[in-house]
Amino acid sequence: MSVLEKISSAEAIALEDKYGAHNYHPLPVVLNKGEGVYVWDVEGKKYYDFLSAYSAVNQGHCHPKIVGAMVNQAQTLTLTSRAFYNDKLGVYEQFITNYFGFDKVLPMNTGAEAVETALKICRKWAYEKKGVAEKQAQIIVCENNFHGRTTTIISFSNDENARKNFGPFTEGFIKIAYDDLEALEKAITSSPNVAGFLVEPIQGEAGVYVPSEGYLAKAKALCEKHNVLFIADEVQTGIARTGKLLAVHHENVQPDILVLGKAISGGVYPVSAVLANDAIMNVIKPGQHGSTFGGNPVAAAVAIAALEVVTDEKLADNAERLGQIFRAELGKYIETSNIATLVRGKGLLNAVVINDTEESDTAWNICMKLAENGLLAKPTHGNIIRFAPPLVMNEEQLMDCVNIIINTLKEFER
Ligand SMILES: Cc1ncc(COP(=O)(O)O)c(C=O)c1O
Repeated sequence: MSVLEKISSAEAIALEDKYGAHNYHPLPVVLNKGEGVYVWDVEGKKYYDFLSAYSAVNQGHCHPKIVGAMVNQAQTLTLTSRAFYNDKLGVYEQFITNYFGFDKVLPMNTGAEAVETALKICRKWAYEKKGVAEKQAQIIVCENNFHGRTTTIISFSNDENARKNFGPFTEGFIKIAYDDLEALEKAITSSPNVAGFLVEPIQGEAGVYVPSEGYLAKAKALCEKHNVLFIADEVQTGIARTGKLLAVHHENVQPDILVLGKAISGGVYPVSAVLANDAIMNVIKPGQHGSTFGGNPVAAAVAIAALEVVTDEKLADNAERLGQIFRAELGKYIETSNIATLVRGKGLLNAVVINDTEESDTAWNICMKLAENGLLAKPTHGNIIRFAPPLVMNEEQLMDCVNIIINTLKEFER
C-alpha cells in the first residue's frame, strides 16, 4: 500500500494505535474531508461536526477565504524566523491589536504556549513594575481549570490524570474555587506578592461551567483595586464562540492580558496570541521570549483572514441567536427526560449533563450513537457532553441537529 493510498477506517485506526502515542481516546470515526458545518469519514458518511476541533473551527471547515490566504502566502514566503523582519507580521500585529483594542501582541502558535507566555509576562511585570520581591510572585488560578498541557500549566491543574508522574511542578500558584468572589478577594489580599488572576470566562473543558452573572466584571474590579493583572484565557471561549467576540465582553470587561488561540486561525494553522497594553507588554525585551514559528507570514495572513470572516459573516450574532434556540429546544426536551438533566452554556458553547455518574460510560455511548445518527460530539467529563458546532451553521441545520440529538437521547431514556 502506498502511503497516500485510500485506507479504510479500520486501517487508519490500527495505524494510529500501533505507531502513535496513546495520549488521546478518540471516537472511532476517521475523517477525511470537511466543509462548513460538515465532515465526512473515509467511507463517505457525512456528519454534522458538533465539536469544531474544540472550538478551533468556528468559521467552518476549510473556509475558502482562510484557506486561500494560507495557500497564497505559503506559495510566497512561509517562514523567516524572527531573526529578520517579514512584510506580513507588522500588518497582522496592527490588525489584531486594533481588532481587540490593545497596544501590542506577542504571537505564538498553540494555546498552551500563549498561556505560558501570559504567565511569564505577568511575573515579569510583577517584579519590574509592581515591585514584588525576587521569586515571590504568585498567580491566582481556579479549581478545575484547563489551560493546556505543559509542565507549568499542569502544575496548577487538579486533574490527577493530567498530573500524575509528571512532577516536580512549578511553584507560585494559588488555587481558589471558580465563580467565588470572596475566595478571590481573600487570595488577592493574602499577600502583596499576588501578580495576576488567570481565569477562563467559561470553564470549557471542565464541562462548560458558566459563572454567575457579574463574576467577571467584579473579579476584574477587584484585580484593578489591588494592582493585580486580570488574565483572560479565551483560547476556547474567544472569537465569537459564546455570542460575543470575547466571552468577557458579555460583562464589558477588557482584560489586562488576553490569551487567544484555536479559532484565531479558523482551525487551518496553529496560531495563538497574547495581547496587552504597553505598560505590561514592554517588560519583554529581546531574547527573553519567543518561538521559531510564532508570527510567521503564513500565520499572519491566515489570522487576518480568519478574523475578517468572523466580522464579515457576523458569527458572534449567529452564535448568540442559535445558542438561544439550542438551549430552549434542549431545555424543553429535558423537562420530560430522565437521561438528560441540564443544558447550559452561552452562544454556541453548550453542554448537556447526562443523568449518570462521572465514571459511567453513558455519555460516551450516547456520543457513539450520535455519530451513528450523523452528528459528532464528545464527552468533556464522564457525564457531560459538549455541543459546539461551527458558528457558520444556519437555523435549519441547527434544528436538524437538535432533532438528531433529541432522538438519540430518546434511545437512552430509561
Ligand atoms: C481554555 C484553554 N486554554 C488553553 C488551551 C490549550 O490550547 P492548545 O491545545 O492549543 O495548547 C485550551 C485547549 O483546549 C483551552 O480550552
